[in-house]
Amino acid sequence: MSKSNESEKFGKVAVLYGGDSAERDISLQSGESVLHALREECIAAEGVDCRGNYLQKLAEFDRVFIALHGRGGEDGTLQGALEVLRIPYTGSGVLASALAMDKVLCKQLWEGVNLPTPEFLVVTESEQLTKLNKVENFPVMVKPAREGSSVGMSKVDTAGDLKQAVSLALQYDIALVERYIQGEEYTVAILGDKVLPPVRLKTPRDFYDYEAKYQSQDTEYRCPCGLDPDDEAALKTLAYEAYKSVSASGWGRVDVMRDAAGRFYLLEINTVPGMTSHSLVPMAAKQGGISFNRLVMEILESSFPQSHSQG
Ligand SMILES: Nc1ncnc2c1ncn2[C@@H]1O[C@H](COP(=O)(O)OP(=O)(O)O)[C@@H](O)[C@H]1O
Ligand SMILES: [Mg+2]
Repeated sequence: MSKSNESEKFGKVAVLYGGDSAERDISLQSGESVLHALREECIAAEGVDCRGNYLQKLAEFDRVFIALHGRGGEDGTLQGALEVLRIPYTGSGVLASALAMDKVLCKQLWEGVNLPTPEFLVVTESEQLTKLNKVENFPVMVKPAREGSSVGMSKVDTAGDLKQAVSLALQYDIALVERYIQGEEYTVAILGDKVLPPVRLKTPRDFYDYEAKYQSQDTEYRCPCGLDPDDEAALKTLAYEAYKSVSASGWGRVDVMRDAAGRFYLLEINTVPGMTSHSLVPMAAKQGGISFNRLVMEILESSFPQSHSQG
């Protein structure tokens, strides 16, 4: 099919980006990159900044490409609205999006199906005083249940610093106190049913925090990731099982730690990962022989309705 014939199949595409979550700036960059690629592929695409009552603007479009990260874009609410409006959209459906956004529910589900994830404790505002005394082993990671980009997160080395870290996380949501895994960090991108080559992340900082993700020059990315073939295969299988366990579809990215003994632990799933030119999914795709434009087009394909009911 020629490019212009193919574009007819997709109709008019709205690229949803921006919004007002903590990840607005990254989403603006992701959306711009996606828009640029779609236009190069002769798709009739327009950007829609998702602030205010933007749903009304979508009536004139045939489908949407969701490039909104975090709450309001990645958490199932937008997906639910689009289902009601009967507008096809890219990526995971309502349930998978909501589950993947909630680190507590997602980890409980993984425990239920015997997938490895670091031990954790859930702390709500009212339980703070009673529960925190039970934390005996340090370091731990403290994080809000439903945020991204390492917002509201801290690594805590001693009991004395725990309360303050939990208070910070509680400003955003209920909090998780999770065992800190000392070791290597990997992230695994999934496109449709393909698992792309894993990326290893290395930062001299305590963990891959907001600065290491978006600002620092000294974060290293390795793809190929350097694991031996058996370990790499095990990591890919684990990431795919984690993705399928929440019934994610279309595309996504799974964050994983590996301890000194070589055991993998699932941290989280992102159902709308970053799509800037220097983001991790495009990096993995490139290593897998998939150009940025091809990647964007394959994600757009996931907007055809059968996608959300897979798995
Ligand atoms: N249990 C843990 N052990 C070690 N490092 C962790 C742990 N949890 C999170 N991290 C670090 O914090 C980063 C962000 O955590 P993650 O759970 O992926 O949340 P976010 O949604 O903010 O990306 C990870 O990329 C990793 O570097
Ligand atoms: Mg993460």
